[in-house]
Amino acid sequence: MKQPPMRILYSRKEIAARIAEMARQIDRDYQGRELLMVGVLKGSFLFIADLIREVQTPAIVDFMRIASYGSETQSSGIIEFRKDLELSIKGRDVLIVEDIVDSGQTLKALCARLLQREPASLRVCTLVDKKAARITDIHVDYVGFPLDDGFIVGYGLDWDERYRNLADIFLVETE
Ligand code: IMP
Ligand code: MG
Repeated sequence: MKQPPMRILYSRKEIAARIAEMARQIDRDYQGRELLMVGVLKGSFLFIADLIREVQTPAIVDFMRIASYGSETQSSGIIEFRKDLELSIKGRDVLIVEDIVDSGQTLKALCARLLQREPASLRVCTLVDKKAARITDIHVDYVGFPLDDGFIVGYGLDWDERYRNLADIFLVETE
């Protein structure tokens, strides 16, 4: 298995520092409330694990599994819900935790589905935001790192299921 050329974009230290800042902001916004953090599998598994330990606000956690199809580095907009939440979100303060928002199609479908269940509030937190690639009008409330361009792997993010286990985030160098 030949590894594509890649270079480090965000180190594990930078990621941890940024997550600590995001957690402080979340704590300020959710004072006196209890969070229901919804991790979107698989990509967000490391991010949510670190974020939920930094947040001081009381928090419970649940997961959804969504797959978006496409070529290796381009999503098609076809979204499949593979695993639903186990907890009820009705009347709860829900925070969706995503690894990356690209076109925004995954998030748009997810928000529409969750809003039908009448949460008290619904916000979105993503580690990486590729805002320039957005083709939907979805709003993201908490952004770790804005990214103009490029395909990244590591810290949960995959390329055809590989490299999720890298501790830093790398930019895949396509020619
Ligand atoms: P969207 O529906 O176009 O916003 O795509 C979101 C999904 O595409 C993410 O949850 C990722 O699974 C995947 N994705 C988009 N950009 C990247 C990337 O740079 N690296 C790894 N996965 C990505
Ligand atoms: Mg994802």
